[in-house]
Amino acid sequence: MKFLKALACATAFAACAVSSLAHAAGYPERSITMIVPFSAGGPTDTVARLVAESMSKDLGQQIIIENVGGAGGTLGAGRVANADADGYTLLLHHIGMATSATLYRKLPYDTLNAFEYVGLVTDVPMTIVTRKDMEAKDLKGLIDYAKANKDKVTVANAGIGAASHLCGMLFMSAIQTPLVTVPYKGTGPAMTDLLGGQVDIMCDQTTNTTKQIQGGTIKAYAVTSPKRLDVMKDIPTAVEAGLPGFEVGIWHGIYAPKGTPAEATERLAKALKVALKDPNVVARFAELGTAPSPETDATPQALKAKLEGEIARWKPVIEGAGQYAD
Ligand code: MLT
Repeated sequence: MKFLKALACATAFAACAVSSLAHAAGYPERSITMIVPFSAGGPTDTVARLVAESMSKDLGQQIIIENVGGAGGTLGAGRVANADADGYTLLLHHIGMATSATLYRKLPYDTLNAFEYVGLVTDVPMTIVTRKDMEAKDLKGLIDYAKANKDKVTVANAGIGAASHLCGMLFMSAIQTPLVTVPYKGTGPAMTDLLGGQVDIMCDQTTNTTKQIQGGTIKAYAVTSPKRLDVMKDIPTAVEAGLPGFEVGIWHGIYAPKGTPAEATERLAKALKVALKDPNVVARFAELGTAPSPETDATPQALKAKLEGEIARWKPVIEGAGQYAD
């Protein structure tokens, strides 16, 4: 009798071990694709590659970045919205996910019903920058120059729905002067033209401008954060420099197609939490003027609430500016 009891316990233990191994050996079983909806070399790409590399270690599977630029990030977002909901296609996108819901009357997806949520990643400040030979000595001088040359001053952005488009729109509204906008598939390529002097002004994220500002290859006039940034302490905030209320942070989140199993999104959220505490990610973000989102925000619930709140927040601002994508 004792033998049978021992055999039963052993069998139960083995079955339990196998099932937990099977579970542990479950998702992910192969590499994952993370779509970045802007060109390689830009701020979104930089954030994605840093976080994906760290998440891969925890997941035990590679996360491969694929850049799908165009239409202010909506092409890449549409690709993910229509991908298989198996946990092997993800989207890393920013505030543009919220602003595009109002800017685009016809999107290839229904923003609040086409995605599952993994979590928030980081909230990146922006910088108002220009070609390095811009004559203005401060933001007030830059605004005066822009107003006096409004038919020739060019402002680069990454298309309607991009963070640079939002910041440029806020800037033109604040100075009550429309300027000539030049769209790119990302602010990576836009930076090339700014460095070359082919375009005059850009409002772009510190993840793309910090090293250039520190190197003196572009000029910075203001940061859009509530306080000055350690990586560029001599640059005033836009509020200090004369644009009351001009604060904008570019929050980023990771999404999956609607219907992706909770086992996958929860496993991804766990890997995201680990990545946001990775000393290398923390250090690289700090060098680029930003910081990981708090652990409490690296959850599906936090990202869902953020997206819903930001759609509601920016809708009246966008409608007031009257700028829409055709
Ligand atoms: C990029 O990664 O190129 C930028 O996020 C584009 C933008 O949103 O301005």
